Amino acid sequence: MNQTRILITGANGQIGSVLTQELRQRVGANQVIATDIRDPEQKTEGPFERLDALDSERLEQLIRQYEITTIYHLAAILSAKGEQNPRQAWQINMESLFNVLEAARSHQLQLFFPSSIAVFGDNTPRRETPQDTIMQPTTVYGISKVAGEQWCQYYHKKYGVDVRSVRYPGIIGYQSMPGGGTTDYAVDIYHKAVLGEPFDCFLSAETRLPMLYMDDAIRATIELMEAPAEQITVRTSYNLAGMSFSPGEVAAEIQRYIPNFTIRYAPDFRQKIADSWPNSIEDSRARADWNWNPEYDLATMTSDMLENLRLKYEVENA
Ligand code: SER
Repeated sequence: MNQTRILITGANGQIGSVLTQELRQRVGANQVIATDIRDPEQKTEGPFERLDALDSERLEQLIRQYEITTIYHLAAILSAKGEQNPRQAWQINMESLFNVLEAARSHQLQLFFPSSIAVFGDNTPRRETPQDTIMQPTTVYGISKVAGEQWCQYYHKKYGVDVRSVRYPGIIGYQSMPGGGTTDYAVDIYHKAVLGEPFDCFLSAETRLPMLYMDDAIRATIELMEAPAEQITVRTSYNLAGMSFSPGEVAAEIQRYIPNFTIRYAPDFRQKIADSWPNSIEDSRARADWNWNPEYDLATMTSDMLENLRLKYEVENA
């Protein structure tokens, strides 16, 4: 039997670091090759290899060396950071995707490609945004994800590549920090609250965005990848929903546990990006095709985040 051997790009990132751990638990530490452009801050059990996802030769070498069967391609420049150097963000996001698509084609690998709510734009229906709708994004990140989705579908139809994808909303977890995104505030706010510090929010109090707790995000990713191929009817990318909230709402929820927590609002360029994204997402296709069902809402997520971050900071200060 062909044993699953996984390679993850961007394995030091917000999602990558948690996904690596979870996959190692499931299939064995040595079956999951973590790769990133930089060495990890903390050594973890299992192989790590340095890989610039733009380097197709090195990717090819690692696939052969480890007899890889599956790639989770998480390396990317996110929405806010991408705006600082759009050409570079486009090059990194697209070239790296072509590298893994080509590798998947020539080695018959299964591939996971993360898309995003950033594929939507100002003229997309904002509430309960449907699976199939207008996609005219305002950021280079969003453009790269729309194009990426189309390329994934193309490789599936033309070459039979088993590529699967979800449109992640903002991802919130205690395990890791995001970087360069528009939804990053929703992680940072919990850290500040636990540390007893005030929080300066770069979005306005009412900006509602779709969000998902890390546990749900990881479970969705693995469930999608493990679903029988005939159940996968979307080869661009699945809408995926968990919850929706605004900075004002999450602050109020935190104040139920930490009454003197304070938040100040100073919207910056990211406000415009957030304003172009949906308030909420309609994800019935994911529910129907591979039984997607989120477990966490704002209340249960907040209690779990605060508990775990308290533990984390206590351990660090002990
Ligand atoms: N969390 C991402 C961002 O803010 C959205 O995919 O860029």
